[in-house]
Amino acid sequence: MMVYQECINCGSRYEINEIVYFCKKCGDQLEIKYDHGKLARALKESEWRNTPLSVWRYRDFMPINDFSKIVSLNEGGTGLHLCQRLGKHLGIRQLYVKNEGENPTGSFKDRGMTVGVTKALEFGIESVICASTGNTSASLAAYAAKAGLQCAVLIPSGKIAYGKLSQAMIYGAKVIQVRGNFDQALDVVQKLSEKHRAIYLLNSINPFRIEGQKSLGYEICDQLNQEAPDRVVVPVGNAGNISAIWKGFTEFHEFGLVETLPKMTGIQAAGSAPIAQAIKKGKDEIVPVAQPETIATAIRIGAPVSWKKALKAIRKSHGTAEMVTDSEILDAQKMLAQVEGLFVEPASASSIAGLKKLIENGDVNEDERVVCVTTGHGLKDPDVAVKMSEKPIEVDAELEAVERVLGLKTPIVMTVSGGLS
Ligand code: F0G
Repeated sequence: MMVYQECINCGSRYEINEIVYFCKKCGDQLEIKYDHGKLARALKESEWRNTPLSVWRYRDFMPINDFSKIVSLNEGGTGLHLCQRLGKHLGIRQLYVKNEGENPTGSFKDRGMTVGVTKALEFGIESVICASTGNTSASLAAYAAKAGLQCAVLIPSGKIAYGKLSQAMIYGAKVIQVRGNFDQALDVVQKLSEKHRAIYLLNSINPFRIEGQKSLGYEICDQLNQEAPDRVVVPVGNAGNISAIWKGFTEFHEFGLVETLPKMTGIQAAGSAPIAQAIKKGKDEIVPVAQPETIATAIRIGAPVSWKKALKAIRKSHGTAEMVTDSEILDAQKMLAQVEGLFVEPASASSIAGLKKLIENGDVNEDERVVCVTTGHGLKDPDVAVKMSEKPIEVDAELEAVERVLGLKTPIVMTVSGGLS
């Protein structure tokens, strides 16, 4: 088998074309694996380096049989912004922001959905579903629309940002609000997709989604001219993304495309931080948080499904994890917008807030080359941005009124006798 699915715990293998979400022997998560020798040979002949930066630049690294079925909205190829002014503020020399809000539906989820929904077409699926704190539902709804699939999304009622809700609705998904939190909604869709096999589950337990998201790691290396940064700082919720990015880096490393690996650094909101707690306490298991709370609703998750993969990524890479309060998140969001012109949603700003804390505590060195991933666009959650910003000032439509607000004095016009007038 050149490509197959493998259990992260017991190593059981499954065919690449089998729909299976968890290992049938031990119940753990699956991961896509490649025969590296064969893939390395295939890559040598591939033209991937001559194609533009995007998820599908890496099509030869993806578990897709039929490229004619690709469902794409032009995902990936997001900016890696050198942030010198922010770096100075935080006390670090080389800071980059990988801004995933530049994806088609405004978050990194599009990287996973383009691959996951393409796979759904290969499987002959007609219906897709997910649970979501907002971005996954927005992304799945868009890709399902493009592919002509039926889509249902389960969201926690009253707790998702308005921009994301509007996306899922306008793309035509059946939007179901559940009385409960994300963890409960995910539990329901998992049971549902086991019971109704024709409905394909596209949460990050789906290993094909992770394959798409690993392109984030590949892209960072390519944007840094075939070098990995010293550290990558990632907001963590359900923990699929940090695992996916790590997979991307390790694969590039195994293929000899980069020499080093970055320290994976996960940031969680203080009110929902089971992974950061486990890392800090040196534990091998997480203790789920029953009532997760944070203003960063995207990462308001108490029982992250991919916790095992995330702990492994953080520990194997000699990284770390940190938690940040809501006010630290909001301060970081504002700072990033006002110092670098990058408007990201609160969950995304947690990577900046976390880095600030790690530098202050001496856990990150000023000489490190650091990439902070900002996962979603600021317009996803306009309410929070408006609430914490200075209110607009209303004036009459008169020159003097605007001058007064701007603190401008009317210039004194000098007239020279006999001059030009
Ligand atoms: N940042 C944003 C903006 C997110 O939407 C999410 C997850 C994360 C970070 C965390 O990523 O779960 O892979 O660790 N949002 C999911 C959703 C849960 O439903 O949109 P993760």
